[in-house]
Amino acid sequence: MIIAIDGPAGVGKGTLAKKLATHYSMSYLDTGTLYRAVGLSVLMAGQNPADTTAAASAAQGLDFNFKPVDGSFRAFIADQDVTTKLRTQDVGQAASVVSAIPAVRAALKDFQVHFAATHSTARGVILDGRDIGTVICPHAEVKFFLDARPEIRAQRRVKELREAGREAVYETVLAEIIDRDDRDRNRSDAPLKAADDAILLDTSDLGIDDVFAKACAVVEKQRARANKSAS
Ligand code: DC
Repeated sequence: MIIAIDGPAGVGKGTLAKKLATHYSMSYLDTGTLYRAVGLSVLMAGQNPADTTAAASAAQGLDFNFKPVDGSFRAFIADQDVTTKLRTQDVGQAASVVSAIPAVRAALKDFQVHFAATHSTARGVILDGRDIGTVICPHAEVKFFLDARPEIRAQRRVKELREAGREAVYETVLAEIIDRDDRDRNRSDAPLKAADDAILLDTSDLGIDDVFAKACAVVEKQRARANKSAS
């Protein structure tokens, strides 16, 4: 089984994906990490994320620098473990810029499609991102599209950053979220949008346990349907 989870920045895709992956013992790929690794790689080389040639060559070189360790993905750039650096706001912005470049998306597509195919046959696989239900896994058995008001997403992000001991100004975080939404939704190649057959979940007024319970109900239904057609 493949579960696709798409949605804008800060909507809780990763939290839901990890909870589902633990609950159902499924594999999980956070595809935003790939774009973040490309963005960080470009920044570390002192180049501009909007530079198509630099971004495309960073994406094409990613296979060799992005290694799984202990079952979870850790990113290495020039032998340096940069996993924690990937989560910063600057890297998120750079990721959004490089992800609008078609050559970058093309370079990362095979890895994602292959990951989904190789892990779907065992206990199943979950991928989260922006184009999983529309481009990477259009055949996914379960598709979720999560959304929430930008103000709520900014509040959650500020809380998360402060809890991690980082400084965060609400207005700045909100502006970045709006900026990223705009770029992710309006790019020409694989823009952020719900697949026609995706289940929409607005998480603005829901806690993670509520979102998880709703998602589990959908997955259970699909599992029952698959068991029935197999018997
Ligand atoms: O989910 P995230 O915040 O880690 O993603 C960072 C950026 O990467 C996001 O702004 C857009 C891009 N992205 C994408 O274009 N397609 C994906 N499947 C995942 C992320």
